[in-house]
Amino acid sequence: MFLEKIQISNFRNITNTKLTFNSKFNIIHGDNGNGKTNLLEAIYYTTSLKPIKKKNKLTHLINDKAQHSILNSTFKNNSYREEIKIIITPQKKALIYNNNTNTDIKSYLHKFQAVLFTPDDLMIIKGEPEMRRELFNKAIFHSNQFYYSYIRDYNRILKSRNKILKEMHENKTNNSELLNALNQQFANLSLKIYEERINYLIDYIPILIKIINNLSNKEYLPYLVYKTDFNYKDREQFLLKLKNKQYLEIRQKRTLIGPHLDDYKIMTNDKEIRFFGSQGEIRLFALAIKISQIVYIYEKTNQYPILLLDDISSELDEKRKDFLFNFLKTIDTQIFITTTSLSNLPKLESSSFYHVKNGDFS
Ligand SMILES: Nc1ncnc2c1ncn2[C@@H]1O[C@H](COP(=O)(O)OP(=O)(O)OP(=O)(O)O)[C@@H](O)[C@H]1O
Ligand SMILES: [Mg+2]
Repeated sequence: MFLEKIQISNFRNITNTKLTFNSKFNIIHGDNGNGKTNLLEAIYYTTSLKPIKKKNKLTHLINDKAQHSILNSTFKNNSYREEIKIIITPQKKALIYNNNTNTDIKSYLHKFQAVLFTPDDLMIIKGEPEMRRELFNKAIFHSNQFYYSYIRDYNRILKSRNKILKEMHENKTNNSELLNALNQQFANLSLKIYEERINYLIDYIPILIKIINNLSNKEYLPYLVYKTDFNYKDREQFLLKLKNKQYLEIRQKRTLIGPHLDDYKIMTNDKEIRFFGSQGEIRLFALAIKISQIVYIYEKTNQYPILLLDDISSELDEKRKDFLFNFLKTIDTQIFITTTSLSNLPKLESSSFYHVKNGDFS
């Protein structure tokens, strides 16, 4: 499946554009601040229904001189086409998929998948655990539809739990009974999330090691460790820990155990790359983490996600660039690449070029 056409109106600085894409490489070039990332974001939004930057609100996506934004896309899958229309207003977004307004979001997200590479990916390694959890959450959603609802329900319960802890702290109510009831659901979901993460990692880690070895000519002894304080396999133990922590939790007004606190540690030679890696090593590992996620999706579904590569080639040295583009040539998927200068890219067959200036494409 590939994105055949997109019509964009009033999405960020792109006021009105209609584009037809190549099923392999699409190169978007232009100077800084003209709308390259905005085009990628329009595609990213179509497939994930989320802005690239989590903190962006719907109003940030709508052109600042317009009231609403519309993204009309056509995906082509062998001989049939899928039509997607997304209307974004300051209050909400609406998805119309093949003329249907009642689409099941979970299966929609599962069907249309895009993986984005950006220079910010360094933060996968350097950033706080939240960034790694988010990245892996997204990757696990892609391969496991149920995981999405586990995380959604977990976050809802976590919020209620924290609210109750806060109320208990302020002595407003004694909600122990409600808390105990929530703890049961909280434990069930924690165990499920933990199990799905481990299941994912069992298949993912060998791919990651292989990719890092390929990228580095086996210079490292890479490994990924899932860091958790508790053995989630044991429900009774988890509930007991929750009970023992209750006093502290009320004092701190927040939940102190659960998968929302776990982390993914990327190691090499028994050292955490986050603390010991050089800038170049961190870049290499970040790239490898993303590539491995794509390979994982392929191994499970026999289909690669669409790749959105935002200005990454200028960030890589020649060796890594070679590896990346050789890899991209071999995989059967549609790829969008942005760059300020075409000289940053090797010659790629089956590519279409788009120049962007002030949100207009030619
Ligand atoms: N809601 C909006 N309405 C109008 N313009 C916007 C909106 N959001 C962002 N922009 C503008 O869009 C412009 C282009 O942004 P974009 O990030 O796509 O540039 P780019 O071509 O990727 O640049 P770079 O090479 O620096 O990454 C920016 O100048 C930004 O101010
Ligand atoms: Mg950009």
